[in-house]
Amino acid sequence: MKTLAIDIGGSGLKALLLDEQGNPLGDRDRIKTPKPATPKAVMSLLIELAQRQGDFDRVSVGFPGIVRKGIIYTAVNLHPDWREYDLATQLSSSVGKPVRVANDADLQGMGAISGEGVEMVITLGTGFGTALFTEGHLVPNIELAHHRFRKSETYEEQLGRAALKKIGSKTWNTRLLKAIESLSRVLNYDRLYLGGGEVKHIEIELPENVTIVSNMLGLLGGIKLWKD
Ligand code: BGC
Repeated sequence: MKTLAIDIGGSGLKALLLDEQGNPLGDRDRIKTPKPATPKAVMSLLIELAQRQGDFDRVSVGFPGIVRKGIIYTAVNLHPDWREYDLATQLSSSVGKPVRVANDADLQGMGAISGEGVEMVITLGTGFGTALFTEGHLVPNIELAHHRFRKSETYEEQLGRAALKKIGSKTWNTRLLKAIESLSRVLNYDRLYLGGGEVKHIEIELPENVTIVSNMLGLLGGIKLWKD
C-alpha cells in the first residue's frame, strides 16, 4: 500500500511516496507553484508530479487554506478560483486513486504531535499555518493567520514570508517570540511545534515547551489521513 503525499505551498508543490508505515520511498520531488496559482494550473502540475512518482494506491494532500470534506473554501496565497473547488474528487478522477485532503498545517501537525495534552503547531512558510490538537484530536481549520496580531496587522502579515523579506530576520525573530508569547497566553498549550520552510531563520532562544520540527512532516503527516 503506497501513499503519494503532496504538499501544496505558496512557492512549491511537493510530492513524496510513502510506504505503509509512512516512511519515505525515495526522494522528495518539487515543482514551483505556478503564477497565477489557479486550480487548473496547479492541478496539471500535480498530475505531472504524480506521474513522475510512478505507482501508488492513494493520495494525501496538504492544502494552504480551509478544507472540508475534500472541498476548498479559502486559498489566500493561491487564487480566488479555489473557492468551493472539490479538490479530492477532481484529483481522484485524474489519477484514478482515492484522495484525501486536509489543511497543510493540520496535516503537518498530525505528523508532529505526541498525542498527549494540548498541542499546537505553527508553520512558517509563505503563510502562517496554525493547528491545534487535544489528546491527539484535531480541531480542524484553526485559522489564526488572518487574525489581528499587532499594529493592526495579522499574524500572517507580520510573520509570513513577505514580511520576513521586508523586515529581515532579526526583527522577524523578535516578532516571532512576541507571537509565541501571545498565543501561549490565549491557547495554554502544553507544547508548541514550529515547522515550515522558514524555521531555518529562527535564531531566538525558544521557551522550553517549544520544539522546531522538520519541514518534511508536511509530507510525512500525510499517512495519518488514512488512519481510521
Ligand atoms: C492559510 C492557512 C494555511 C497557512 C499556511 C494561511 O494563509 O489561511 O489555511 O494553513 O496559510 O499555508
